[in-house]
Amino acid sequence: MTAGDPPPRLAVEAESAEYAAAAAALARQLDLPVPPEASLVLRLGAQGLQLVVPGPGAPGPVRVDFVAGALAHRVRHGGGTGQMIARAVGIQPGIRPTILDATAGLGRDAFVLAELGCRLTLIERCPAIHALLADGLQRARTSAESAAAIERMTLLPPADAIATMHGWDEAAPQVVYLDPMFPHRDKSALVKKEMRLFRPLVGDDDDAPDLLAAALALASHRVVVKRPRKAPALAGPAPGYALEGKSSRFDIYPRRSLQAPATQAGGASNPNSSQATKPGSPGSGA
Ligand SMILES: C[S@@+](CC[C@H](N)C(=O)[O-])C[C@H]1O[C@@H](n2cnc3c(N)ncnc32)[C@H](O)[C@@H]1O
Repeated sequence: MTAGDPPPRLAVEAESAEYAAAAAALARQLDLPVPPEASLVLRLGAQGLQLVVPGPGAPGPVRVDFVAGALAHRVRHGGGTGQMIARAVGIQPGIRPTILDATAGLGRDAFVLAELGCRLTLIERCPAIHALLADGLQRARTSAESAAAIERMTLLPPADAIATMHGWDEAAPQVVYLDPMFPHRDKSALVKKEMRLFRPLVGDDDDAPDLLAAALALASHRVVVKRPRKAPALAGPAPGYALEGKSSRFDIYPRRSLQAPATQAGGASNPNSSQATKPGSPGSGA
C-alpha cells in the first residue's frame, strides 16, 4: 500500500441468489464482509469471480480468463517460443525449465509459459488476487483448449513468497520468475485497468529486493525479473544481462546454463545474445 492511501474496503457479493451461499463461503474463507458499501467488490456469479469497482465511471470488472479472453488469444496466436518472456526464462529447443512464479498475480505470464510447455509453481500473497487466480484456473481446467497448460500450473495456498522460498524443502526450481508491482510515480502513465484495480489491494511491493535475494538463493539456473523498460533494476546484485522490449524489460541473473536433457550439450545461459543488452547503469542495483 502506498503511504497515505486509505485501505480499500473489499467485500464479497453474489451476483444473484443462486450464488449467495458460495459467496458467503468465500467471504468467510477470505475473512471479508458482505456489506452494501465497499470500494472494491469480489462478485461471484455466472462468469466466475470478478473484481469490481462499484459506481459510475469505474473501470470494468477484472477476472481471470484462460479460455476465451485476450490472454487466451495472445497465447494461441502470439509469439510462441520466440517471444521475449520465453527467451528470458531460457526456453530453447528441448529445454522447458521448471519455473517458480513467485509473484503470480492474475497468472498471465505463467499461463504463457505453461502453454509453451513449462511446469510452474505459482505463489500469490494477496488473498483476493489469489482467489481470482484460483477461480480462473478452476474454470479453465475443464476447457479442452486450456486444460493441458493448466495442468502444468500448480498454485500454492496464499503465502508470502519470500518466506516460502526461504523455507523451500523440495527440488529447487530451475528458474524463479519475479514481476513485482512497480511504483509508477508518473501520474500520466496509462496503467492497465487491472493494475488500477490491483494497486489499492497489493500496494507497491516495496519488499521486492528481499524477493530477489530469496530467489537468487533458491533458483538453480536463473532468476528473471520483469520490469518496466525504463525502470531501474531491483536493488541487489546487478543482473547479468537484460532483454528489452517496447514497454517491458527482463533482467536476467544467470547462475548455470540450462541444458536439454537428451543432449546435455551446448546449453547457453544467454540465448539470443545478439538481442541482449546490459541494463542501464543508473540504479542498476549494484
Ligand atoms: C505485477 S503483479 C504480477 C502479474 C503477473 N506476472 C501476471 O502475469 O498476471 C505482482 C503480484 O505479485 C504479488 N507479490 C508481490 N510480492 C509478493 C510476495 N513477496 N509473495 C507473494 N506474492 C507477491 C502481488 O500481490 C501482485 O499480485
